[in-house]
Amino acid sequence: MRAAGLISLLAAASPALVAARGTLGFALGNENPDATCKSVADYKKDFDALKDLTTLVRTYSASNCDTAKNIIPAAKAKGFKVVLGVWPDSDESFNQDFDALKAAIPGNEGVVDGITVGSECLYRGDITAQKLLKRINQVKNEFPSITVGTVDSWNKFADGTADPIVQGGVTYFLVNGFAYWQGQEIKNATATYFDDIAQAKARIEQVAGDSASKIKFGNGETGWPTDGGSDYGAAKAGTKLAQTYYKNAVCAMLTWGIDVFYFEAFDETWKPKSIGDNGEEMDETHWGLFTDDRKIKFDTSCPN
Ligand SMILES: *[C@@H]1O[C@H](CO)[C@@H](O)[C@H](O)[C@H]1NC(C)=O
Repeated sequence: MRAAGLISLLAAASPALVAARGTLGFALGNENPDATCKSVADYKKDFDALKDLTTLVRTYSASNCDTAKNIIPAAKAKGFKVVLGVWPDSDESFNQDFDALKAAIPGNEGVVDGITVGSECLYRGDITAQKLLKRINQVKNEFPSITVGTVDSWNKFADGTADPIVQGGVTYFLVNGFAYWQGQEIKNATATYFDDIAQAKARIEQVAGDSASKIKFGNGETGWPTDGGSDYGAAKAGTKLAQTYYKNAVCAMLTWGIDVFYFEAFDETWKPKSIGDNGEEMDETHWGLFTDDRKIKFDTSCPN
């Protein structure tokens, strides 16, 4: 989107300014810096560090590291809510996560803000939209009082790949958008992020038609790496740039009324290096708003 497009989009959305600001949450990993699994006590420390900013986090596989089992009591103790995740890419991972939810949730529905089945699995091409819809419905049927949906990259919504899921009646969508992974320099990052999220939202609402008002829509992940992270084309890592991205992009998205899960709460120093779409080795350990020992890196107060 060009700058003029962004301004008109914000102007068109201005009633939302009055109606409701989006809710800020954080993506939360399930391993400690030394790669051990987080315990109930570790999650409690995480929540103590986050509590001035939010009482909402989202996690990924429910069974891996006993995430659902360990995070639920910590959330209960600290007044947090969690979005739990199911990895539907293979039968094995689906069944493990589904079983973990069936063991952990009953009686604790009050701390579960939602369940996401799939995390960018359409983006990776691991599963078809039809199969993913079946998985989502299986989980929905098991937990009728909980909001169940999916998370994927913005472009898989915008290009229609996810249409069968919207047509299938799913009403909870988290859309990931990283201007950084699109190689955008910081001065164009907010426009890119808004364009991504707006395109995905428009497509979902168009496909949902009359049911669009039932949809719970949010941004599932966005963020910017801090000092020590890798550059990605024109997107440069740095703590000052991450703060600029937060204050410009994240604050504006919340003002627009869109819920945002910032990626991520804490640096995940255990993470191995990965190979980016550009073929270069990428450091994935500096995406936290907090260091791995839970010290905040920059001020996140929003200008409005
Ligand atoms: C800036 O972002 C907009 C919106 O995504 C995009 O259309 C444009 O190509 C970007 N500019 C550059 C130089 O990449």
